Amino acid sequence: MRPELKIALVGAGFIGRSHALAIHAVNKVFPACPLTAVAHVVAEADDARARAAAAALGFDHAAGRWEEAVDMADAVIVAVPSFMHFPIASRTIAQGKPLLCEKPVGLSAAEATRLAQAAAQAGSVHAVGFTYVRLPLVRQARAILDSGRLGRVLHVRGRHFEDYLSDPDAPHGWRLSAETAGRYGALGDLGYHILAILRFLCGPVVELTGLSRTMHPRRPDGAGGTKPVDNEDYAAALLAFESGAVGVVETSRIAIGRKMEVSFEIVCERGTIAFDAERMNELRLYEAGQPAEIQGFRTILANPAHPDYAGFLPAPGHQLGFNDLKTIELLGFLRAVAEGRCAAPDLADAMRISRLCDAILDSSQAGSRIATPETYERPAA
Ligand SMILES: NC(=O)c1ccc[n+]([C@@H]2O[C@H](COP(=O)([O-])OP(=O)(O)OC[C@H]3O[C@@H](n4cnc5c(N)ncnc54)[C@H](O)[C@@H]3O)[C@@H](O)[C@H]2O)c1
Repeated sequence: MRPELKIALVGAGFIGRSHALAIHAVNKVFPACPLTAVAHVVAEADDARARAAAAALGFDHAAGRWEEAVDMADAVIVAVPSFMHFPIASRTIAQGKPLLCEKPVGLSAAEATRLAQAAAQAGSVHAVGFTYVRLPLVRQARAILDSGRLGRVLHVRGRHFEDYLSDPDAPHGWRLSAETAGRYGALGDLGYHILAILRFLCGPVVELTGLSRTMHPRRPDGAGGTKPVDNEDYAAALLAFESGAVGVVETSRIAIGRKMEVSFEIVCERGTIAFDAERMNELRLYEAGQPAEIQGFRTILANPAHPDYAGFLPAPGHQLGFNDLKTIELLGFLRAVAEGRCAAPDLADAMRISRLCDAILDSSQAGSRIATPETYERPAA
């Protein structure tokens, strides 16, 4: 019999639901997974919501207080707004329990750093919800780069654009307030993902110059007035990587028309790789040396030869979706728990990415370039 891991899911909103589906799917999709995921307890903002979530999402228990859920479980998934990450993750780490925390971790790089340090001291297992880094074709892109067939990376472009706040009259919400989302706006919600992908494909960032703007500084408060928006709608940065590659990263939550553009283009000496998560089952590859009359990018459709695809489907081109990525993420987490190690990207990566976000915003404010941004610490206020 495979050992069971009783999981607490804290938060059953947008992403909590995807985690719940993953808990139920992971052992069916991946029968060789070393642990059995048990939907043990779901915590929500109050008892009634917790009971409704447990019934709707198939959990054995409901908790109106997240502390109760953490105490009852073997491992914890944190899927609540950012201001609650720190206390929930801290309690989980203090109890020596494995943690899968959603991004961005906490309200600031300072909180992410404290969590990464506490987890390292405790020797605990952790992972962060960097959903797209675990995408089969993103990992295939890394395998192509690692194979050396394209030569070294010269320059890159990375982007995460969505348009959920493109309407200036879209209402205020937790993502727009410093108290609940922290300092980062588009960067924390979206830029965090593409920064993780660029680091995964190109390595650490050693220098950056940032630019950010809040284009819609007030939003309707739902009571006939408006509330100030505390964080940026758009951010960009010029990047230099340790490898010598250079590039640009951009993120926007007001990019009208773009629903899920997590995209990158990696230009190498002998070819280019391009990807866009709006077509997440397609990787585009250009390789030098083709006869001139048939030169061009070719499209590689996701297929069972790519990491983790075969668990879902035996045939090429039949397409994975967003919720499948959360199942792949959970598989990685369960394997890490069974082996007593972290599942990258983890809290240490999140700490570095939060510092990159700080560096982009501070560089924008000061109009200056920041060296070694992955170790950047904000000057005391
Ligand atoms: N990895 C991804 O692709 C991805 C996608 C979306 C969101 N996220 C992240 O997931 C987190 C949650 O975002 P979301 O979009 O699901 O938000 P959401 O607002 O849809 O859901 C948050 C849920 O937390 C619940 N909640 C609030 N207070 C609580 C409490 N005290 N105890 C238990 N539950 C409580 C709310 O009732 C709500 O159901 C954020 O950190 C966000 O950045 C990640």
